[in-house]
Amino acid sequence: MNYKEIIDSIYNSSKNLKDNGKLAAYIPELANIDPHKFGVHITKVNRFEYGSGDFEERFSIQSIAKVLTLTLAYKTFGEELWKRVDVEPSGTPFNSLTQLESDKGIPRNPFMNAGALVICDILVSHLEHPKQDFLDFCRDVTANEHLNYNQRVVASEKSVGFTNVALCNFIKSFGNIHNSVEEVLDFYFSICSLEMSCKELSRAFLYLADNNYRTPTHQHVLQLSQARRINAIMQTCGFYDESGEFCYRVGLPGKSGVGGGIVALSPGQYCIAVWSPKLNPKGNSFKSMHFLEEFTTATDSSIF
Ligand code: DON
Repeated sequence: MNYKEIIDSIYNSSKNLKDNGKLAAYIPELANIDPHKFGVHITKVNRFEYGSGDFEERFSIQSIAKVLTLTLAYKTFGEELWKRVDVEPSGTPFNSLTQLESDKGIPRNPFMNAGALVICDILVSHLEHPKQDFLDFCRDVTANEHLNYNQRVVASEKSVGFTNVALCNFIKSFGNIHNSVEEVLDFYFSICSLEMSCKELSRAFLYLADNNYRTPTHQHVLQLSQARRINAIMQTCGFYDESGEFCYRVGLPGKSGVGGGIVALSPGQYCIAVWSPKLNPKGNSFKSMHFLEEFTTATDSSIF
């Protein structure tokens, strides 16, 4: 399989695709990004790597970071975690409040904002220095000491994050947030502001595709069964109310962020990251989804 040729060919045919998407301007800082940025990078389990376009430029990974917080929480607390958050697709937008009332403050899954806030609360309870400890964990898992938060994005999201403030307070009213709302939100906005390039992202998530992956200080990031379960949640919940569509068109577990990034992986084969900042109405990158659909078709690598 000539991945280089396939990536370049799909990159070139997608580059000028008509894209009616919009930047995630609800976070003012994200409205300043060049909407024409477009990058892709693949890292195979055998460590073959290839990238096209803006694949070395860092961007705000936003909700993609929820996979990393979930990984740390799952690794630390195991199945206990599922008492506080469910593993059901919600069929609702990423910032939805609606099901929380009937579900009594137990979010449907760890990737919608509500669920990610509960995971952040769990980490705030158990990490001595949550922001630094989580950053250290990410740097270690990804073998990349250059990862960092973007404080401008944190401040920007804090200034307008009223829905997340509401979500956190509402969940706390059911007793499923244990720490102060301010502390949990500060941690949540920080993890969302993490920046990575497509190259760094496709390397970072290799631990979910390669069972033999080792970090400099961990034997294994997750047990195989845990990695499979995180992949299952990515498959069913990674794109909110567009998870079915992504599954249908691309056929891989993946996770999107409103910074325009999508990371997807084929267990045992590869991890791929695509970045294009304009989002479709469901908040997922229009061009990145298109690229991945063409890519799994050309490489015959849908898991179905
Ligand atoms: O909480 C928010 O609204 C953002 N920090 C993250 C949302 C996001 O990335 C949704 N994914 N597509």
